[in-house]
Amino acid sequence: MKLIAKTLEGLEAVLADELNNLGATDITVLNRAVSYTGDHKLLYQSNLLLRTSIKVLVFIKEFTVRNEKDLYEEVKKIPWETYFSINETFAIDSVVNSTLFRHANFIALKTKDAIADRFRDKYDQRPNVDTNDPFLQINVHVRENIVTLSLDSSGASLHLRGYRRQQVDAPLNEVMAAGLVLLSGWDQISTLMDPMCGSATILCEAARIAGNIPPHAEDKAFAFKKWKTFEPLIWEEVCSEAQKAIDKSRIPTLKGFDILPKAIHAAKSNIEAAQLEDFISIEEEDFFYQEGAQDLTLIFNPPYDGRLKEEDVLEFYRHIGDKLKLSFSNCNAWILSGHVDAMKNVGLRPAVKKRLLNGSIPSLYCKYEMYQGSKKQKWQKLYGNQDQQ
Ligand SMILES: C[S@@+](CC[C@H](N)C(=O)[O-])C[C@H]1O[C@@H](n2cnc3c(N)ncnc32)[C@H](O)[C@@H]1O
Repeated sequence: MKLIAKTLEGLEAVLADELNNLGATDITVLNRAVSYTGDHKLLYQSNLLLRTSIKVLVFIKEFTVRNEKDLYEEVKKIPWETYFSINETFAIDSVVNSTLFRHANFIALKTKDAIADRFRDKYDQRPNVDTNDPFLQINVHVRENIVTLSLDSSGASLHLRGYRRQQVDAPLNEVMAAGLVLLSGWDQISTLMDPMCGSATILCEAARIAGNIPPHAEDKAFAFKKWKTFEPLIWEEVCSEAQKAIDKSRIPTLKGFDILPKAIHAAKSNIEAAQLEDFISIEEEDFFYQEGAQDLTLIFNPPYDGRLKEEDVLEFYRHIGDKLKLSFSNCNAWILSGHVDAMKNVGLRPAVKKRLLNGSIPSLYCKYEMYQGSKKQKWQKLYGNQDQQ
């Protein structure tokens, strides 16, 4: 089967790495997606185990079109009755990036008509559409004049892990949080801290990565479980292998802090739902009053929202940089922010800078390395070793 795992912009390479680790072949990095080849086992593993995928699609057919009539005819040629029957429901999800067709809704409508008409021609009846909980979710993607049809094997978006009971303003998407942890190259041994943890998404994802805990529960209603082609024995094998691979003893110390009691409450509730309370500690503390620490990794996304005035945001980020320099020597700090000017104000040269799309917000994800005595070394380089004089 040709499979396509969709992701968030900027996480394609991390997703490709995850797929490589699962043994996928023909891996090709696309825009917000990665295509690969695999069997039923890999399809089930992709849904259960990929941390940076939001959907896994099974490719059906690709063709070129000149107009809507071509689209209708080509869709109608596909033997849809082998995928679902007359008394089962379907729905169309369309993504259109084309000068030929402007409206995604129109493409969805034409595709739906072609499928319904094929059934009507064959059986004198047509299946119903159910946009809420369809038996078969069909995906139509149009790029210029190339149409790709695929089946959504996931159902609900894979960012929904099931542990988020409560949230704060601007919580991170779980897929993005997992992506941040994987992009950081955190060694999964040293302490990880999120000093502005909000609802603790980064910490929950990091703990699960370190303990090899699958991002999803086995009883999740993945769409492929309803399909005619579903292989329950292979699914059982995938689940049992995933269970055996869990090793919570490998989860190191994870620490979260936030200034808001509401966030502390949400974080604790989510950590409890994820059954990670033995590994993640949460405390109410202002980052700027932190005692500080050494030899740890910090990953966080500071606020820059409407409650702060523009000049306050810039100052807030300058303080973050000062605090990192002052209190977190020998640490690596990764910061995600959609406020590019504020990031410049951190006042530290990023060792790594990545561009990500957080929701619809183009964001920067930067790594800052704080070395103990780095300033001293800098002056020594400029003026010679003062200690020896
Ligand atoms: C964008 S949210 C983080 C969202 C979080 N990553 C999540 O997934 O829920 C920023 C957080 O920073 C917290 N915060 C703001 N100023 C702070 C400070 N001085 N010290 C600690 N936390 C702070 C806010 O209360 C808020 O929860």
